[in-house]
Amino acid sequence: MASWLSLLVGCLLLLNLPGNDCEKAKGQDIEEENTFLDLHATKFYVDKSSFIRDFVLMDTKIVLLTLPPKWGKTVAVDMLRAFLELNVDENGERVYWSPDMLTDPNLKISRHQAMPNIFVDPNLKISRHRTLITAHYKRHPVIHVSFHDVQGDTVESMLPSLTEAIARAFDHHRYMQPVLSRDAVGPDSVSSYNARYSLHIFEQIRNRTVDRETLKTSLYMLVEILNRKFGTVWILIDAYDHPIDIGQTQDLAEADAKMDYLRDLLQKTFKLRWHFHKALLSG
Ligand SMILES: *[C@@H]1O[C@H](CO)[C@@H](O)[C@H](O)[C@H]1NC(C)=O
Repeated sequence: MASWLSLLVGCLLLLNLPGNDCEKAKGQDIEEENTFLDLHATKFYVDKSSFIRDFVLMDTKIVLLTLPPKWGKTVAVDMLRAFLELNVDENGERVYWSPDMLTDPNLKISRHQAMPNIFVDPNLKISRHRTLITAHYKRHPVIHVSFHDVQGDTVESMLPSLTEAIARAFDHHRYMQPVLSRDAVGPDSVSSYNARYSLHIFEQIRNRTVDRETLKTSLYMLVEILNRKFGTVWILIDAYDHPIDIGQTQDLAEADAKMDYLRDLLQKTFKLRWHFHKALLSG
């Protein structure tokens, strides 16, 4: 019996989710890797799907999920992503699931995205909550970032790995580039200017050449453009506290600067509260 201690902003709530997790099962397809889907396929999966319901119904906008290492946070975050995230093709058009997808030779979404809904499997506890599944299954834009591989004890030394972590989220949403390109030539000069600007930043981030001040506002920008296209965003940040914990520099000024930088980045990401529906910070 694992006890999931979930510290909410302002209050404390206990979620009891049974079971242990297997070691992370790696997918073949690196970019669309999803530890939950891989693990579920192995049958070693211990059902924690009721966490989806707990998270969706939780009356808190930013949820901090704190657990000891190796207690399945990554799997929980990947499960939420597999459940919530809407399917989009490479041009930024929503794709709705159909049985023909599995045999469609021109399918423009990934293997994981094309899977039939596994959450209606009666072996999963979430399957009993049909209304919730109808309301939320693959209905939301999701930003997923993992700070798991971020390292460095100063802002400068942390930047390459932090850029990489954030750029992966942008790579995942690369279909927004054609969308922004179309908006950039639109009739409204303000929105076309904004689209050109966002497109430029998008490229810089995906090129891994973005400067530190722009990087700080990058997730904020991604929330904003996804919200404009698809409605309120769900934000999942895995290992959010990892960059804070690692690297013990003797230089207190450097340590403070790093903390300030990370705090600014998160504060900016969550600044426009009506642009995102809910956020999970796991650590
Ligand atoms: C990104 O990289 C490509 C290829 O190197 C380059 O053509 C493009 O100008 C770069 N974009 C930005 C905004 O840096």
